Amino acid sequence: MKILTIIPTYNEIEALPITVQRLRAAVPESDVLVVDDNSPDGTGQLAERMGHEDPQIHVLHRRAKNGLGGAYIAGFRWGLDREYDVLVELDADGSHQPEQLPDLIAKIDEADLVIGSRWVAGGAVVNWPLHREVISRAGSLYSRTLLGLPVRDITAGFRVFRRSTLEDIDLNSIESVGYGFQVDMTFRVARQRKTIVEVPITFVERTLGASKMSSDIVVEAMLNVTRWGLGARAEALSGRFGLR
Ligand code: GDD
Ligand code: MN
Repeated sequence: MKILTIIPTYNEIEALPITVQRLRAAVPESDVLVVDDNSPDGTGQLAERMGHEDPQIHVLHRRAKNGLGGAYIAGFRWGLDREYDVLVELDADGSHQPEQLPDLIAKIDEADLVIGSRWVAGGAVVNWPLHREVISRAGSLYSRTLLGLPVRDITAGFRVFRRSTLEDIDLNSIESVGYGFQVDMTFRVARQRKTIVEVPITFVERTLGASKMSSDIVVEAMLNVTRWGLGARAEALSGRFGLR
């Protein structure tokens, strides 16, 4: 099983080397792809130097900060072109503990998508300000209800995809720029009636660098979820009344 762990970065010069070192120790068989959006702090150059010392570390440079969704799609394409069987999403800042990744990978035999979840029994968040917890829980509840998805942590960014799951998604058609990309992917996998398994994780708020979360990201996700939810309902209704 060939594994690729994709790490998107924007100004993560302090956190990235620690996260990569932990990942290399916890899952030595996984290759690493850093997708850097031309970070002004030099994260991209640091990643290059790390890649010179370790042939399992690769770097993809994008010209400018273009959002988490685009960074992951570029990383997925890179990995699909190179015959990886399993593709992992991991934040650079240490919030997703590489030591928990084997628990997620262990479930990919029985799932098409494995989500490291904060909001299932056994999951936890350490050092998050209350407003972040409220946004995340409320966002998950809203999306779960409107989209009819049986997933507790819909925006989670610690994930393991089977190659075929990504091959069956039209990556060109993903329009989400921000963290709503995660909801988008979940919705698409669920609509194909594929198996999604949530594994409890402990999410640890970063101690180095700063979050890139913004109100724009929340608004984009809310509007998209509302649009997709209403669209799916309209489709179901027109089916029921024979309008299709
Ligand atoms: N290349 C690139 N481009 N990377 C980005 C961008 C971007 O535009 N925006 C964010 N990132 C990277 C960060 O450098 C970090 O490695 C990761 O994406 C997560 O960003 P954070 O800013 O640390 O996210 P967070 O901790 O506030 O949000 C967490 O919760 C979200 C909502 O549940 C993360 O786990 C997200 O993945 C999750 O969607
Ligand atoms: Mn973070």
